[in-house]
Amino acid sequence: MTEFNDKIANKDFVLNENKIKEYINSMNVDFVKELIFLDETTSTFDETNALTCKNGGVVCTRKQTGGRGRLGRKWISENGGIYFSILLSAKDGCDNLQKITSVCALGVLEALKKYTPCKIKWPNDIISDNGKKLCGILTKLKTENDMISYLDVGIGINANMTEFPSELKYASSLRIILKEYIDENRLFTEVLDKIGKYVQGNIDDSMKLYAKECINVGRAVRALNPNGEEKYKGICTKINDDGSLKIKTYSGKEIDVCSGEFSVRGIYGEDYV
Ligand code: BTN
Repeated sequence: MTEFNDKIANKDFVLNENKIKEYINSMNVDFVKELIFLDETTSTFDETNALTCKNGGVVCTRKQTGGRGRLGRKWISENGGIYFSILLSAKDGCDNLQKITSVCALGVLEALKKYTPCKIKWPNDIISDNGKKLCGILTKLKTENDMISYLDVGIGINANMTEFPSELKYASSLRIILKEYIDENRLFTEVLDKIGKYVQGNIDDSMKLYAKECINVGRAVRALNPNGEEKYKGICTKINDDGSLKIKTYSGKEIDVCSGEFSVRGIYGEDYV
């Protein structure tokens, strides 16, 4: 921790409702229609039913005791991170889910690039240029009357954590990278602003940009199922328009893998998680 002693945490930089609202107003982030702020919760996914606005409603917290990650994993959610869910209307069900999640990743990427160079690791991790994970996104479909009606996009950003459990050897935070305490309220508002820009923009154009920002293209990948079993191994040749990843396997087959079923390994060598 000594490395961080010179930068004393500024209490105005810690997530708080008033500051977030101030920034939302001053930056005119009109895409946010409602904000629920909680000091702590199990998971923002457990709180979104309380939002009356199902398109542009946001729940945000400083700490989650039961944070959820992709493919059934836990998402460690200690103080210093920014944890939030955004509700968005879903037009075409699953296809829309993958695309919306991808354009949200693009929004987070654009905001984080102001702080440090970063890229997208398929499907929607934001990683720093030294290969460390700074953000993860998990989207859930919310149904009403058995119809898919909206998406709950859950986003976790590693802003000011100074350490991570040893098993998370590929996680880092902006604070660790920049050696500087980050204003979480400003960062959160900038992220919301950029997400708004992409979800309200032309989604097909954004998917082209998303494909360009994915670090996996042209690199070796291994696609693993949720049990961690390797299913395909080859080169990622492209990101398809729907956000799925195309692999040319070493036996010459072309396979498309979807984010709900697979995670990939392979960037920065086979060791990368
Ligand atoms: C991943 O595994 O990379 C996705 C992590 C998603 C974490 C966010 S934090 C806010 C929302 N609530 C949760 O419980 N998880 C998501």
